[in-house]
Amino acid sequence: MHMEVQPDSGVAGVDDRERGTTATQRRQAILAPGLSPFPEGWYFVASRQAVQRAGLIQKSWMGENIVVWSDADGRICVAEAICPHLGADLGPDAGGRVCDGRLVCPFHGYEFDATGQCVATPFAPAPRTAKLRVFETHDIHGLIFAWWGVDGRPPQWTLPTEPLEQDGWCNYEIETLRFPGHPQETTENSVDLAHLRYVHGYDNVDRPERMSVEGHRLLSNFNFRRVRTIARFAKLTFSVSAKTHIYGLGYSFVDIREHSIGMNMRLWVLATPVDGKLIDLTLVSQVREIRKPRRLFVGLGFLPPPLRAPLINKFMALQQKEDVLQDVVIWGRKQYTSRPRLCRSDGEIMPFRYYCAQFYPEPCDSNGAAT
Ligand code: FES
Ligand SMILES: [Fe+2]
Repeated sequence: MHMEVQPDSGVAGVDDRERGTTATQRRQAILAPGLSPFPEGWYFVASRQAVQRAGLIQKSWMGENIVVWSDADGRICVAEAICPHLGADLGPDAGGRVCDGRLVCPFHGYEFDATGQCVATPFAPAPRTAKLRVFETHDIHGLIFAWWGVDGRPPQWTLPTEPLEQDGWCNYEIETLRFPGHPQETTENSVDLAHLRYVHGYDNVDRPERMSVEGHRLLSNFNFRRVRTIARFAKLTFSVSAKTHIYGLGYSFVDIREHSIGMNMRLWVLATPVDGKLIDLTLVSQVREIRKPRRLFVGLGFLPPPLRAPLINKFMALQQKEDVLQDVVIWGRKQYTSRPRLCRSDGEIMPFRYYCAQFYPEPCDSNGAAT
């Protein structure tokens, strides 16, 4: 079902029947005074390149202590960093290591394959019941995500599954910023057009279409113009159309067309709760090869085409980071306001929150019933 949300409809008039939550539950969720720190969904873990480079990564992710590694066939395992034998920490600081694609526990040498199953021990056959608690993963061209479900429930929906065209696209620039925040608050920026003008100084901000929602997916389009000063004297004007595809609160993908140079760009904004207070906001960007720039961009025309996109990507990634740092000043100090006093120019804040409510399902009791 494809649903369009009327900009001023607030929470009324939206059909919930296909979303597994009742209208009343949604209203309660969006008007609750605080946000649960771990909304259900897919959250970024690491890039495949970072996993392969490090061998074994340990991190705090969605309030969980996890390890991540890959076997020789490229299967990635994201698992709780606790050994099911006698509870040793499996991270590299405690002596955990990967040997022949298996994670080896530093305490008694249990070995785990990329499904989390214990497949060997040094002195006895592997106990069948020894299995790590693993998280389901999803790979988007080398970006590894894992599913975090309320009460450990399995994935309820998927991230995009169609292969991402890579022909002519440069490598990713990846940067992670950590600050106090919540993924709903950072994602809300995608529909908060007023802040684009006020915080980031964009001009001509315009929304060509209304935000639309289809189950766990939300699409928001906007156009803007942006003037940047480079090297203190050169003024550049960017004229941008951005389509933001949101899949839950951990995954926002922005498809960007810059008209004055004639450039296509991809930007992922990936918010991941760390511990209930801090979040990691990972920015991933990619620019498509620019064969015939419409205008000269800091000497762009003089560079051979294969060098243009990586260079522009570095520049754009810095710009994105600068923008996000402007937001971080606000995000890191703000409070969630469940009953915001909105004005006409705010538009779609409440329909966005109504969409978000599906990511806070009721916890289940041990019999699987909603409590
Ligand atoms: S605690 Fe891991 S092998 Fe014993
Ligand atoms: Fe922003």
